[in-house]
Amino acid sequence: MSQEKQVFHPNREFAETARIKNMCEFENLTRFAQEDYEGFWGKFAEEKIEWSQPFTNVLDESNAPFVKWFENGKLNVSTQCVDRHLVDKKNKAAIIFEGDRGDSEIITYLQLSQNVNKFANLLKNQFNVKKGDRVVIYMPMIPEAAYAMLACARLGAIHSIVFGGFSAEALKDRVEDAEAKVVITADGAFRKSKPYMLKPVVDTALKDVTIVEKVLVVERNHEEIEWVAGRDYSYNELIKNENAHCEAEEMDSEDPLFLLYTSGSTGKPKGVQHNSAGYILWAQMTMEWVFDVKEDDTYWCTADIGWITGHTYIVYGPLAMGATTVMFEGVPTYPDAGRPWAMVEKHRINQFYTAPTAIRVLHKMGEDEPGKYDISSLKVLGTVGEPIDPPAWKWYYESVGNSKCAIVDTYWQTETGGHMISPVPGATPIKPACATFALPGIMAEILDDDGKKAAVGEKGKLCITRPWPSQIRNVWGDEDRYVSSYFGDATKDGKPVYFSGDGAVYDEDGYITITGRMDDVINVSGHRMGTAEVEAAIKKHDNVAEVAVVGKPHDLKGEGIFAYVVLKSEDTMAEEMEMAKEINGVIKVEIGNIALCDNIVFVDGLPKTRSGKVMRRILRAIAKGEEITQDTSTLEDPSVVGKIEEIVNSCIL
Ligand code: WT7
Repeated sequence: MSQEKQVFHPNREFAETARIKNMCEFENLTRFAQEDYEGFWGKFAEEKIEWSQPFTNVLDESNAPFVKWFENGKLNVSTQCVDRHLVDKKNKAAIIFEGDRGDSEIITYLQLSQNVNKFANLLKNQFNVKKGDRVVIYMPMIPEAAYAMLACARLGAIHSIVFGGFSAEALKDRVEDAEAKVVITADGAFRKSKPYMLKPVVDTALKDVTIVEKVLVVERNHEEIEWVAGRDYSYNELIKNENAHCEAEEMDSEDPLFLLYTSGSTGKPKGVQHNSAGYILWAQMTMEWVFDVKEDDTYWCTADIGWITGHTYIVYGPLAMGATTVMFEGVPTYPDAGRPWAMVEKHRINQFYTAPTAIRVLHKMGEDEPGKYDISSLKVLGTVGEPIDPPAWKWYYESVGNSKCAIVDTYWQTETGGHMISPVPGATPIKPACATFALPGIMAEILDDDGKKAAVGEKGKLCITRPWPSQIRNVWGDEDRYVSSYFGDATKDGKPVYFSGDGAVYDEDGYITITGRMDDVINVSGHRMGTAEVEAAIKKHDNVAEVAVVGKPHDLKGEGIFAYVVLKSEDTMAEEMEMAKEINGVIKVEIGNIALCDNIVFVDGLPKTRSGKVMRRILRAIAKGEEITQDTSTLEDPSVVGKIEEIVNSCIL
């Protein structure tokens, strides 16, 4: 039997105490949702959320795709994540912080409550932050980032976290699009035992921005920074003035909780808007079902809070269920590729959640490292962000999981808020590198172009055919873009349905395998990079006339970025080398290091249709070194294809 066809059954002992113990229970839940969709969601919403006013209607689809969940319900997400645990968990660890240099700190639920309340009071009393205001958070992985998120939620302010690896220019775009009133940042933090800086990036970003009134700076590495009088304030100083009681704002189920910008295939990044009740409900339910975290467990997700994984599965999900969540400031390969396993041993971590790209790096750099530590506490291993390749899966399963841990290959997106398709560890028989089945309540279907369910083995569009509680509610400030980006490309029974942008296939047992993006989005190390965004950055170089970027398979990153550039001037080889460096320099300024190109080739022209559309499929094939199977006769100038192939074959930079 080939590795891919092998089936791994859940560990019996684990299954006995799991929340979903077998496929029968799983299927019963799925059936419950299919037969009584509103009953299913209403039951869990009543059970899992502490409402200050109960909802009166489960789902209003009358204005679809603008939907409303749990109408008239009132709650506060910070109360869900903090206050309600004070009754029986006040001395339980809420956050275990592990610093880059090995320093650690345990924050109990009581301490979390005090810190969040004080933080909220600071924002309210000293910065005048009110319900509905937007607050940008540009922070390292330190507990204050979680306090900041929960403090915003407490006041009903909408946070928008910008990943600390984004450049000043990218930060500025996001601050302006969200019209943020306050930015919360840190002087910097530590990486590989050395301080690195964030505040100078904020200074550059805000140079010509007038809407931001105040900048709050958490002093973490205590390096010297500039302070703008009247705008910049030290958190470490101001927090001393605040007390630990701040009334939580009563929020409507559908009041926005946060924005998170993400790339699409066209245009600028979109501000994905998530609202309160539905989001927190599914964050908690998936934590419980997919990771099956128990009362005394310690759970670690290695993501950064700058991405959706960090939002849902470091902060909101774990805290909503009252779990202990680990936050890690450093990088997984420092001081060596055994760091994660040393941390598993040190904190006796039970669930570990990371991305295939990290697994590949840890495998390559430290194949035998897991064996050097006592990692027997592990029960569930998760992966997210991109399809995992079978060799990485095998190493993860055997060497990290000791062939006894379930691997949950969780498929989801920024827009879905939480997991959509994933094994559940006590029930699902697992096939390597396969996301398996939609979770109960999630109506995921692979559809063909006619809106019919795809046949076994036929690649189709991965769609979600009914609204779900944690779905994106809007693209910030742009309702048309929300509708056209997500509900314009697939239909079922003649009605528009949510299309993820991903392709997928069913196998003969109904298992779903994700095949990857069907649009022009590139997945670099599990992070989405929009082609349009990277191309717009490259075009800022004075000497660039035209550019097209595509993804190219990369051993560690999954995909790397491959750019085809037409220059304005004729250049020599040496000048082109210099130009490639300059182009990556521009990307660094415009977006950040995560979008740097692995390959830049200079060509005389791009393959375009007569209407001027760049045929990226051809460029993708050339980058991969594949045969061109597309018909090139419809191109404006078919001869460009051969010329590009020649250049690529001779000079991959
Ligand atoms: C895209 C979403 C969801 C948090 C991290 C990324 C790809 C995600 C899987 C998986 C195959 C996956 C998809 C998706 N993706 N998880 N388990 N198997 N592909 O969030 O930046 O919104 O990216 O990541 O292509 O559309 P994101």
